[in-house]
Amino acid sequence: MTLNLEDYIATIPDYPEKGVMFRDISPLMADGEAYRQATNEIVQYARDKNVEMIVGPEARGFIVGCPVAYELGVGFAPARKKGKLPRETISATYNLEYGTAELQLQKLAIKPGQRVLVTDDLLATGGTISATIEMVERLGGIVVGTAFIIELTDLHGRDKIKDYDMLSLVTF
Ligand code: PRP
Ligand code: ADE
Repeated sequence: MTLNLEDYIATIPDYPEKGVMFRDISPLMADGEAYRQATNEIVQYARDKNVEMIVGPEARGFIVGCPVAYELGVGFAPARKKGKLPRETISATYNLEYGTAELQLQKLAIKPGQRVLVTDDLLATGGTISATIEMVERLGGIVVGTAFIIELTDLHGRDKIKDYDMLSLVTF
């Protein structure tokens, strides 16, 4: 049976600040079938693109990307918030729907020429995913696709990554 994944997203008005409609994947993660279905849809997308490595931004990008990497038998590299990764890193700064931030990736995370899928729970303005893509490319990776559980269409994140293929499972 195919589940309607939209039924597993909670909407919280005015969180974390007034005016933001927070879309929460917790109910999807709490339901084994829904979590597996979302994972499998992204796994299929990644298989079709011969993905060799997955990169996801902290923190919710890990929740989406790690089970996909496990199922495919490929590696996962975390793009972490500033100051969390040891060894040599590269950085990218970006604007969020609510604030600004900096992400970092270890220089050894990507081998030049590797086919990379970038994953996250949600695409809003596209700032987070663009910063992650930028770092992967600076390390010589080829971003062959991007995958999200949720896309917030009003914020036009898709326009920011129009040069890349994209999968989203639920749109609001
Ligand atoms: C959220 C979400 C995405 C990003 C989307 O993460 O998980 O990564 O915002 O917004 P954007 O498209 O406008 O960049 P957040 O920065 O809140 O961090 P978290 O995953 O650690 O909660
Ligand atoms: N990240 C950025 N915008 C968000 C939203 N509206 N809901 C959940 N996560 C977000």
